[in-house]
Amino acid sequence: MTPAMTRAFFITGTDTGVGKTAVTCALVRLLVAGGYRARAIKPIESGCAADAAGELQPADALAHRAAAGLEPVPLEQFIRYRLREPLAPAIAAERAGIRLDLAACVDLVRAAQAATDILLVEGAGGLLAPFAGTFRDGYQTVADFILALGIPALIVARARLGTINHTLLTWRELERRAIPCVGVILNESDLETGRERESNARALQAFGIPVLAELPYGSARLEWHLADVARRIADTSAGDEPYD
Ligand SMILES: Nc1ncnc2c1ncn2[C@@H]1O[C@H](COP(=O)(O)OP(=O)(O)OP(=O)(O)O)[C@@H](O)[C@H]1O
Ligand SMILES: [Mg+2]
Repeated sequence: MTPAMTRAFFITGTDTGVGKTAVTCALVRLLVAGGYRARAIKPIESGCAADAAGELQPADALAHRAAAGLEPVPLEQFIRYRLREPLAPAIAAERAGIRLDLAACVDLVRAAQAATDILLVEGAGGLLAPFAGTFRDGYQTVADFILALGIPALIVARARLGTINHTLLTWRELERRAIPCVGVILNESDLETGRERESNARALQAFGIPVLAELPYGSARLEWHLADVARRIADTSAGDEPYD
């Protein structure tokens, strides 16, 4: 079902709020500017605010659609489930009485792959956030969803004290599940970064983790810093181990 030449990557993070959407949108803008049919989607989004008409508005999926310049395309091609409470998807859904169907999310990804050359799939929160399922029957995590998709991951991490630990935990969990990971993007998503700015990337590399980019605070220059990553994503052909 997956077209042979569609490249797809799963954008996961060491936490919620680390900059997955900011990075994903910048990569999509670069790829579209490079002539690729590229887009990003977010199969489940929680924390959606209701508009005046009471319709839940998914900020991330809307940003993905805008980044690809695809405003006329129905939002349903960018998101499958919109949830109101700002909680892990499985928990927000349970509280809203909504049953999340992982297979429907996989279908959304496959349809998006069929419509693109390069697809980025944004997860929710961090790698082991409860993504679907229920308390009673057990939860599936974001990692379970990546495995079901069979696509490589890319980690966005905070450029902050603590990030070596968070990134290694995420990397090693991907490794344990045999999910290939192309590397880490360190993102200064707030102004809390101190002297660890100089040492984080070096330390991660000493653990064998490729740091693909270090993004400074301020959204204006993200694309400049991500140009090389976008090129490498575009150059990675389907079926190859990414960036080996
Ligand atoms: N390099 C940066 N410079 C300035 N602000 C940034 C940067 N990266 C991210 N931000 C801001 O930080 C906030 C969180 O970023 P973002 O929404 O991309 O995180 P996320 O990982 O996608 O979160 P979620 O788990 O909710 O999807 C946003 O307000 C975003 O604009
Ligand atoms: Mg996001």
